[in-house]
Amino acid sequence: MDFTKRVMSAYAKIDDPRLRSIIAALIKHLHAFVNEIRPTDQEFEFAWDYMARMAAKTGAERNEFLLMADVIGVSQMVESINHDEPGKPVGFALVGPFLRANDPFRDRGAADVSDDTPGARVRITGKVYDFHTKVPIEGAILDTWQAASNGLYENQDENQPDYNLRGKYRSDRNGTFDLVALMPTAYPVPTDGPVGELLRAAKRPPDRPAHIHFIVSAPGYETLVTQIFVKGDKQIEEDVVFTADEKMIGDFKREGDRFSLVYDFPLRRGVSTIPKAPIPA
Ligand SMILES: [Fe+2]
Repeated sequence: MDFTKRVMSAYAKIDDPRLRSIIAALIKHLHAFVNEIRPTDQEFEFAWDYMARMAAKTGAERNEFLLMADVIGVSQMVESINHDEPGKPVGFALVGPFLRANDPFRDRGAADVSDDTPGARVRITGKVYDFHTKVPIEGAILDTWQAASNGLYENQDENQPDYNLRGKYRSDRNGTFDLVALMPTAYPVPTDGPVGELLRAAKRPPDRPAHIHFIVSAPGYETLVTQIFVKGDKQIEEDVVFTADEKMIGDFKREGDRFSLVYDFPLRRGVSTIPKAPIPA
């Protein structure tokens, strides 16, 4: 019997049919990969040591495996497989490593940014509505998070107050919301681990174009995980995690020392699920 088939048959008695097919595909494709690259003994040692070093960089505040999935395009691919639909007006984006659990609800019109955080403010208003019927959705929850103007999320930066630049808002009976955030800033993903080694080897800049994250959810609707990028930003095409695209561009308008943005979130009927936050409360 062919060696790969022999290994696959050794896992053929897994009871759960989904797990059985996943393991079979894993063995089939991993064996084909190894056959193609024909690693030396030293390269194989490098591979498992590399993964051990990824594990060493992984903990409550950071997940190097999720970051790897992001920079090799797998996370965005999973989003596309699960949510893409022709004619869909808003892009689904990967959650990324910086969503933190239990961020606070904030009042309509309130800022999620502390007064002493440097940078221009942006007032974001818009509507949450049913994609097919156009009916406004009342009581949708908009969960937002972003990096400060130094490129750091609050969990990475001891100078920011707890839950700075994070917050949840609710849409009103007309589906509208109103919040004040910070003009988004570009930032590099962490490069002090094995993922950074890969990016340097590939001569890829580690930067994400400026963006604000949103998860918009309502009972009976498919949860929209997305990001808003800045119209005209040259970095959009080089997003290190392959997420930014033209479906997620915000037209930020300058108004004196502030900005404003009108941005709507259409939701499709479906199952409301909330992604697991990589950063605990
Ligand atoms: Fe981000």
